[in-house]
Amino acid sequence: MEIGTIISCEGSPNSSEFLFNIDKPAVKVVKKGQFVQTKNEFGWVISRIEEIYRSNKYFENVEIVEEVKNAMPTKEWESVIAKAKTLGIKANGIERNKSSPSPGARVSLCDKEILKEFFGFDENGLYLGDIDSHELPVKINMTKLLQKHFAVLALSGAGKSYLIKVILEELLDRDKSKGQIAPIIFDTHGEYIAFDTDKQYASKTQVFKSSDIRIGLSDISMSTLYHLLPDLSPAQKRELNKILKDMKSENDVFDLEDLERNIENNVRSSAKYVLLDIIHEMKSLHIFGKSDYPSANSICKQGILSVIDLSDCTSQRKRQIIVYYLCKKLFEARQKGKIPPFLTIIEEAHNYAPERVAKYNAVSKGIIEKIAREGRKFGACLALISQRPVHLATTALSQCNTHIILRITNPYDIDHIGKSSEGLSSDVLKSLPGLHIGEAIITGEAANQPICFKVRQKKVQDSPIANELEKACIDYSEMEKNNKKDLDAFR
Ligand SMILES: Nc1ncnc2c1ncn2[C@@H]1O[C@H](COP(=O)(O)OP(=O)(O)OP(=O)(O)O)[C@@H](O)[C@H]1O
Ligand SMILES: [Mg+2]
Repeated sequence: MEIGTIISCEGSPNSSEFLFNIDKPAVKVVKKGQFVQTKNEFGWVISRIEEIYRSNKYFENVEIVEEVKNAMPTKEWESVIAKAKTLGIKANGIERNKSSPSPGARVSLCDKEILKEFFGFDENGLYLGDIDSHELPVKINMTKLLQKHFAVLALSGAGKSYLIKVILEELLDRDKSKGQIAPIIFDTHGEYIAFDTDKQYASKTQVFKSSDIRIGLSDISMSTLYHLLPDLSPAQKRELNKILKDMKSENDVFDLEDLERNIENNVRSSAKYVLLDIIHEMKSLHIFGKSDYPSANSICKQGILSVIDLSDCTSQRKRQIIVYYLCKKLFEARQKGKIPPFLTIIEEAHNYAPERVAKYNAVSKGIIEKIAREGRKFGACLALISQRPVHLATTALSQCNTHIILRITNPYDIDHIGKSSEGLSSDVLKSLPGLHIGEAIITGEAANQPICFKVRQKKVQDSPIANELEKACIDYSEMEKNNKKDLDAFR
């Protein structure tokens, strides 16, 4: 649809921007943010409308404004002008624009097929939402989004988890012939267990509760154990090493009680009581057992979502240990080709890969950074979700080649995103606080250009955890009332 004509004024049109007069019938159709095309000798110049102005010669002279207002048919002399920023040119392929369109050239709203090619959309890709102003579905190529990792960044309540549910639905609905990945989510708040009770997705979901997860003491390597106990001195490490070596040669499986007994009976040095203290602390985590559960094979299955439900775990250290141990196991198994390509999604990623925190409080940081650095070679993909990008490890964030950003208002976070996201202009950064819930900008590897879109409606039902505040208050009052009744009955 043709919408206007390029006008000539000082310095414009040029290779990066132009102004066009919007045709009267098109005024109601043309909006800021829309994509337009105009032809020159090299092909179709694709641009985005950055601003819309109105001007009227009758009102340029301040002194006669009042007289003119009533006496003349002024509305007919109003012009509506749009400023468009050039993004590229569609010739044989998509190229950087190196020339200017001509004054007088007609401007049209972008053709959908040209836009699809321009953004690099994929008909077989993941349908994340729509570019409203063009009614164009945003279909992102799975390899481009996942292989070089992605991050979802926004303030609390902006729709990060909602978007992740949409991505998970797309991965689960995907046909085997198009390539299915194994999605695994570390679910801090138990928001994703809803997949397990949903009619459509229950058969494609498995939930592992943090209270059931075990690290088999007899299977664990010394380096892993030392990583989990970073405060051990070299002398204590020597003692522990000796004891564990003996135990491994004598028994197939053993647990913390067996190790404790052995230390009590066999360690004579001053390390004994420190080691017993450490065993005591390890016991309190309720995570070390005789054998590993679950195995990498059982968590990692193509087309099956594994939810690692960490909501019943109050210890941040235990959550980190679970993330560390399972990620390490998955990554090593994938390196050996024993499990299919997988996507690990880490909610509240700033708590698992924090930027500036002592080693003891960040056991999971190293493995997240390792997958971020090396994962793409092995089909070990990573998604980091965070409401505080400033606190998220820069090494991990900078390896996420696609960023999906929803509403964000904190100026430090916006500044940080600007530095770590490729291709985000200052205009796009300025627009972040103005985004509505569920509006997102995707930028980086998965999209040729930053694209603003509305996240599509999810299909999965909300989990009971995501109840409204009113319901939580009523439930609490009910619980108090019942407790009182029970107490009264005893009196
Ligand atoms: N695309 C969307 N369409 C409709 N509603 C949405 C959309 N995105 C978010 N919402 C609404 O906003 C609420 C909060 O979204 P969500 O839980 O995804 O936020 P969040 O960014 O993950 O927040 P937090 O940082 O607290 O985890 C949802 O329960 C839902 O009601
Ligand atoms: Mg969330």
